Amino acid sequence: MKVLITGGAGFIGANFVHQTLADRPDAQVTVLDKLTYAGNKASLDDVADKITFVQGDVADPDVVDPLVADSDVVVHFAAESHNDNSLNDPSPFIRSNLVGTFQLLEAVRRHGVRYHHISTDEVYGDLALDDPAKFTPGTPYNPSSPYSASKAGSDLLVRAWVRSFGVAATISNCSNNYGPYQHIEKFIPRQITNLIDGVRPKLYGAGLNVRDWIHVLDHNRAVWTIIDKGRIGQTYLIGADGELNNVQVVEMILELMGHDPHDYDHVNDRAGHDRRYAIDASKLRDELGWTPQYTDFRDGLAQTIAWYRDNESWWRPQKAATEAKYAAQGQ
Ligand code: NAD
Ligand code: DAU
Repeated sequence: MKVLITGGAGFIGANFVHQTLADRPDAQVTVLDKLTYAGNKASLDDVADKITFVQGDVADPDVVDPLVADSDVVVHFAAESHNDNSLNDPSPFIRSNLVGTFQLLEAVRRHGVRYHHISTDEVYGDLALDDPAKFTPGTPYNPSSPYSASKAGSDLLVRAWVRSFGVAATISNCSNNYGPYQHIEKFIPRQITNLIDGVRPKLYGAGLNVRDWIHVLDHNRAVWTIIDKGRIGQTYLIGADGELNNVQVVEMILELMGHDPHDYDHVNDRAGHDRRYAIDASKLRDELGWTPQYTDFRDGLAQTIAWYRDNESWWRPQKAATEAKYAAQGQ
């Protein structure tokens, strides 16, 4: 099977490349990645001789068309992915997330290629902290940030291309991932690398916002399950019942790294900060038989901390610029 993985030098995409090569010896993997600030080719160094790597933009039809034509399945991870950045400058989010998805859909339509679209639970907006409800595939779209709006728009393009043109596509909307190779602008690796540097963790606002954490390897196993067994045109929500507020996560990181769990600072809140995400993954579990393997968040977090401790050369080059960006925002 020839697999085209867009965004394969990013966090989830790089983990997906590793997993695919390990689990599917028959797969021929091509990665298409623009190598933005968030892409890191070093994440693929250990598999460089097993894949074809193309540096290019998913929004460029001349790049996309021949790669799609030579594939059996396209798994589309590439995106601008960070909410805070989308508040400062939404324009790359529109090009990469909307135009990029449009160009891929046109190419899979032309060449009759299977397409899987990676999306986020943020398309549904947020839930109140005291609401027992979770997101389901029937929850209305209600995105809050330019990032989540661009992802919601890309999902709707996929649905339209399925209905109007018969494109063989599936969509997955996943909750917050954690694990190795995540960019240090994101919440968990930012706090781990701050502590390695002797800096106190930074919580936006009161820190009571809730995220539904899932290990990246569980997300990616679910993606393969959907590609193998999912029904064309369907949306599957991916989550592992991992709801925690940000204070709980920071306290766990501090404790696991040998610090007083109350040794953190509150900083400026994010504009429009979504309160709570929570996924009902029963469709994926019941219809396709997927279950998460990382059911103990504390264990997964401890492994993630160990990975950042052991791989400082991977993240160190980005640390100063990342923190300078946050400092300018009072965060
Ligand atoms: P990331 O920012 O770590 O990686 C994104 C990758 O895409 C980078 O390698 C970057 O170079 C590449 N890229 C960006 N624009 C591109 C373009 N125009 N052309 C080609 N490559 C481009 O992101 P991530 O956290 O790995 O997220 C991957 C996907 O998963 C995204 O679609 C995101 O919306 C979705 N998602 C992420 C999470 C999460 O918790 N991180 C949860 C649910 C869904
Ligand atoms: O829900 C899925 C989404 O999860 C994905 O679609 C996004 O691509 C991914 O970035 C993530 O979005 P979040 O905005 O939830 O993730 P982030 O890591 O930026 O922040 C997680 C929570 O932690 C959020 O409530 C903001 C807070 N936060 C973040 C940072 C960077 C802090 O309190 N302090 C920080 O320093």
